[in-house]
Amino acid sequence: MAELLKVENLRVSYHTYAGEIRAVRDVSFSVGENEIVAIVGESGCGKSVTARSILGLIKKPAGEIKTGSKIDFNGENVLSFSGKRRQNYLGGECSIVFQDPLSALNPTMRIGRQIVENILVHRSISRNEAMVEAVRILGKVGIDDPERRSRQYPHELSGGMRQRVMIAIAFSCRPKLLIADEPTTALDVTIQSRVIELLRELHRETKTSIILITHDLGIVAGIAERVYVMYAGKIVESGSTSNIFYHSQHPYTKALLASVPRMTMANKEPLPYIIGTPPDLAVPPAGCAFAPRCKHCMNICVEQQPEPVAYGSGHTLSCWLQSLEDAAL
Ligand SMILES: Nc1ncnc2c1ncn2[C@@H]1O[C@H](COP(=O)(O)OP(=O)(O)OP(=O)(O)O)[C@@H](O)[C@H]1O
Ligand code: SF4
Ligand SMILES: [Mg+2]
Repeated sequence: MAELLKVENLRVSYHTYAGEIRAVRDVSFSVGENEIVAIVGESGCGKSVTARSILGLIKKPAGEIKTGSKIDFNGENVLSFSGKRRQNYLGGECSIVFQDPLSALNPTMRIGRQIVENILVHRSISRNEAMVEAVRILGKVGIDDPERRSRQYPHELSGGMRQRVMIAIAFSCRPKLLIADEPTTALDVTIQSRVIELLRELHRETKTSIILITHDLGIVAGIAERVYVMYAGKIVESGSTSNIFYHSQHPYTKALLASVPRMTMANKEPLPYIIGTPPDLAVPPAGCAFAPRCKHCMNICVEQQPEPVAYGSGHTLSCWLQSLEDAAL
């Protein structure tokens, strides 16, 4: 599969009164053409900062992409984009759907017009043609009576419909890559699965590659081909979705999987959760960041970072349990 996006050794910091927050700490991953990958991890692990970096949205001087970080899109260096090239890329070739459509949409502009304005920035068609296209796309994302709806304002729509509008905007310029950052977190469960189904359908039709960002491993299974598990600014395990679901090796991935609600759970059975909290990224630990929460923690885990090691084809993890087992062979 040809590579569309390649991120290598990405390091991103925020400079705050509390010191330098190392939000993303040496992250490397790739997304193929026509591929859906998921980035999964608890709140604060660096998922959105990674997404903002890919879009070129890290703002100086508070935010800093460190020297040596690389983001290539279709062979071009995203970090060098400026002016027209940046405008074409952002929202045109690469677009994003955020968690909260209400704050991402303009409350004072009719939704049809919001789609039209986006199309006009990126595509060479007339305003009238863009309006026809906007109504067509609204229909495509499952909005009933799209012509009438296109004249409504965001507050007149339900949460699920607003998210469909965001997806319509994101797809209106036929991007090569869509980043969906927690697209269903603000929605209730039945609407969540419809939005995921919509993304899957649009992907099938348009071949747009998708990075699905979520803290909920449960929604990943039916849509992503590969999964990257992030913890404290690092990718700790990656592999095909079946590697991660059926053969996960990293204690953090296993704990995340254990906290996914199951159909077999008894009524009122409390949801398992991972005890403890992620580390403060202003003072990142010398060793494995998961050590204080890991029941397998050894002395070496606290002292030294585990490096990524392969566990079968396309399956990689960073954990001393695996590194020491490999060394013993
Ligand atoms: N603008 C900012 N200024 C300072 N620190 C920031 C900023 N944005 C993010 N961070 C810090 O970077 C780290 C990663 O944040 P990020 O938003 O990427 O997490 P996330 O994985 O997307 O979490 P969530 O699931 O809650 O969205 C966190 O420690 C966060 O506090
Ligand atoms: S490196 Fe050690 S502390 Fe970290 S996940 Fe593996 S066993 Fe647990
Ligand atoms: Mg986030």
